[in-house]
Amino acid sequence: MEFVFHLVVVLHFVGLALLLGAFLVQVKDPNKTVTRWMWDGALTQLVTGVVMVGMMSSGILGDEEKAEVNNTKIAVKLVIVLIITVLAFVGKKKPAPQVGLWATIGLLTLANVVIAVFW
Ligand code: HEM
Repeated sequence: MEFVFHLVVVLHFVGLALLLGAFLVQVKDPNKTVTRWMWDGALTQLVTGVVMVGMMSSGILGDEEKAEVNNTKIAVKLVIVLIITVLAFVGKKKPAPQVGLWATIGLLTLANVVIAVFW
């Protein structure tokens, strides 16, 4: 089960790369907008995050991965990713440029990285 858990962790980083990468590659683009990659990344983070929390709290993991789940931290990350998901859904349907939505999604993604690492 540890192997499956680690695979999900890897996918969590792939989702992060999709979200943050789609934001960063547009920094110098005058037509900044919400791309399909952001939507894919948001869904990946949502699904992999929930699966990891489920696995961690279920007791199916060995001692090494049994670390307590910080429910407050997870709740904050969940709310942020839900906001990102809604913004990405709305933004990907609108014509470019969507600078406000692009920037908000990027900053919220960075906020979730900071929360994940420092909290
Ligand atoms: C934009 C959304 C998200 C970003 C950018 C993000 C980022 C990260 C990062 C950078 C880590 C590694 C930090 C570390 O282990 O020190 C991490 C781990 C983790 N994230 Fe997220 N996350 C997001 C959404 C979520 C959501 C929605 C959940 C749960 C519902 C979640 C649950 C977790 C868990 C449980 C870990 C720990 C994995 C482990 O212990 O190996 N994440 N996240």
